[in-house]
Amino acid sequence: MVNYDERHCHKWALLITERKNTLNQVHAAVEAGDYIKAKQLFYQIFYGKIGEQADPGMAGSLLYHMAMVTKMESENNILLKELNIEQPDVQKNLDRFYGLFEADAHTLLNGVIDFKIPFSSITIERLSSEQKIFLFTELAKKYKELEERLTNQDSVVCVALEELFYEWTSLTIKMRFIQEYETIKGLLTLDILVKTYGIEEIQKVIDVVKDKFGEETVNIALDVTLKVGMRREKLQAVMLSDHYINNTMSIEKLDGKMDFLNCPIHGSHQYILKNFGINSDVPALFCKNFCFAHAKAMLESVLPFPLTLWQKKLMPTDDVCSFYLRLAYSPEIQQKERFVPLILSWNVTRECNLKCSHCYINAADRKLENELTTEEGKQLIDQICDISRPLLILSGGEPLLRQDIYELIKYGSSKGLKMGLGSNGSLIDDAVAKKLKSAGITTVSISIDSHIAAQHDGFRGVVGSWEKAINAIKALRANNVLVQVNTTLTHDNYDQIDNIMSLSESLGVENFHLFFLIPTGRGVKIDDITPQKYEDMITNTFAKVHKHRLNVRPSCAPQFMRIAQGMGLNMRQWIRGCIAGMYYCRIYPNGDITPCPYLPIKIGNVREKTFKEIWQNADMFKILRDPNTLTGKCGECDYKILCGGCRARAYGLSADFIDYCGDLHVPTEAKNDYLKEDPWCVYQSGTSKNVDILKKHPHSIQRR
Ligand SMILES: C[S@@+](CC[C@H](N)C(=O)[O-])C[C@H]1O[C@@H](n2cnc3c(N)ncnc32)[C@H](O)[C@@H]1O
Ligand code: SF4
Ligand code: SF4
Repeated sequence: MVNYDERHCHKWALLITERKNTLNQVHAAVEAGDYIKAKQLFYQIFYGKIGEQADPGMAGSLLYHMAMVTKMESENNILLKELNIEQPDVQKNLDRFYGLFEADAHTLLNGVIDFKIPFSSITIERLSSEQKIFLFTELAKKYKELEERLTNQDSVVCVALEELFYEWTSLTIKMRFIQEYETIKGLLTLDILVKTYGIEEIQKVIDVVKDKFGEETVNIALDVTLKVGMRREKLQAVMLSDHYINNTMSIEKLDGKMDFLNCPIHGSHQYILKNFGINSDVPALFCKNFCFAHAKAMLESVLPFPLTLWQKKLMPTDDVCSFYLRLAYSPEIQQKERFVPLILSWNVTRECNLKCSHCYINAADRKLENELTTEEGKQLIDQICDISRPLLILSGGEPLLRQDIYELIKYGSSKGLKMGLGSNGSLIDDAVAKKLKSAGITTVSISIDSHIAAQHDGFRGVVGSWEKAINAIKALRANNVLVQVNTTLTHDNYDQIDNIMSLSESLGVENFHLFFLIPTGRGVKIDDITPQKYEDMITNTFAKVHKHRLNVRPSCAPQFMRIAQGMGLNMRQWIRGCIAGMYYCRIYPNGDITPCPYLPIKIGNVREKTFKEIWQNADMFKILRDPNTLTGKCGECDYKILCGGCRARAYGLSADFIDYCGDLHVPTEAKNDYLKEDPWCVYQSGTSKNVDILKKHPHSIQRR
């Protein structure tokens, strides 16, 4: 008999028992000389299994409980700090209820593992991120050594297997205990706060600091998780360490639902409520605020598009917690369409202060004569809101050369859009970063094309631009603005990507987008890398993702979805390799709409028709939304739904070379075939043979 409800509070212990049973099967397999089976089962214990009986494994559980320790602790601290009060004295009841939890653990794990964890290490000892990473890495190293011994059919390995299981499990239990200690402390504290200040007052304070709860814990969890080599997309799966979850996410339908069928926090609440009598509002306060903020921050860190999250059922009232999610959701119009804008790029001006050799828009030191005015820009934002609430990236040219840029950001964010800025960084200092932040910017992309200042400056045509870009990143980070680094890949920086990623990471950058050069605008004059090097770069970059804390995405290289799938990486959050016309389009400075910045085919102009009319009715958009319209190799490819090929490259390289070189950066009617195969893809569906692209596409030879 246990004190706390077993289903709600002790899934972690049940998992340890199951893993111990699996360890016994490992021993039996070793005894029978079946080392292949022993190795498979041993892997399963530590790194988990999927399917009906999914288990995130010892590694997942350890990371999860390490993160939960931080979550529970920081929620309490943030609240006390905001109220500007000391921790109220809850020690007596804390010791009592924590002691009962620990007693449960001994009952449940009796005969499974014999452990003794000093009370002082639960109440006082707290690990920094570095210490957590160190402990995890040491255990992972020991795992590798034992795996090696199983490979070498070492018949006396069993004692060492037991020892590692004991060591890893003890640390996991310790983390789970600290998590519970902090949970109970948080409950008892919140109970006192509600009794002292009243529920409305506490809710008001929570509203002010709500986002901080999620952000802080998810950041720390990410820091540890990514540095020990677990991928970002596994973050959700580690929650199975303590939860039973029904997950029905449909990335195609842009929505999803997550049902939590148990909750350890709720279980502890119920027990303490029954045996001590805390305020009955406290459980719902936890669900609605702390857990909601945590789920939101976690989903925002894994999903690249704006999302709306809401709860219909709370555990305290319905015995299940349901989270509903919709991408780029517009609450007023409650959109249901399959294809809605999730990201839009608006080149707000053609004017620029740099002279980059590759610039697709052929930016110059003068703006176009007929660029959209401030009022027209605001109307455009209104019209976008008639369809969805996407991430609207204000790009250029250099967008900060527009005097009304803050007004546009403010307007967009007041309408519920996520506002992004794509900048060369030359005009961003601390004051500008502050103005951007207070206008409501969500994310700023800064272009860095080399970790070597002189090389970046040479490419960008202006001395000093690297230093300014680096200072811009520092200023933005100092003002807590999310930063993305954009790097355009060329022959010259091909071997520098790792360095640029390390530099970005050291500056506190969160997202890294590797742009594969598109031969448009001034980009036609640049010698592009070969298709094989292009393919290799995507593969090598993915191979390094877990070395860095960065969220990496190849841009203008739709094959990344095929390659990621082949490498067992889940990139489904990006929906499809090329989303032009499906979930994305570009607005040229004069209001022309094109499917993407690199495919300058004019579909309409927002001065003539509304954005919604163009988005919903334009023939070219309808064609791009149907992968069956693709021809050539892409049309026959197994990956035409997941990848789709780069339509801009297909368009550019199917064109007459002379004409193509000319004016393709200015939107015009379609002059060539954009549905042909992507000439920069080495994959041939149905064979393992690479295609000799250079022979098939003589234009690409000319350009070399
Ligand atoms: C056109 S710029 C506008 C924003 C800003 N001026 C900047 O340079 O970051 C947006 C991004 O597109 C990239 N870019 C420009 N021309 C390109 C091309 N031909 N192929 C791929 N990326 C390109 C730039 O390096 C930059 O990261
Ligand atoms: S890439 Fe950006 S910074 Fe460079 S010229 Fe074009 S708009 Fe200006
Ligand atoms: S052939 Fe086309 S659809 Fe297939 S992987 Fe290559 S670019 Fe993508």
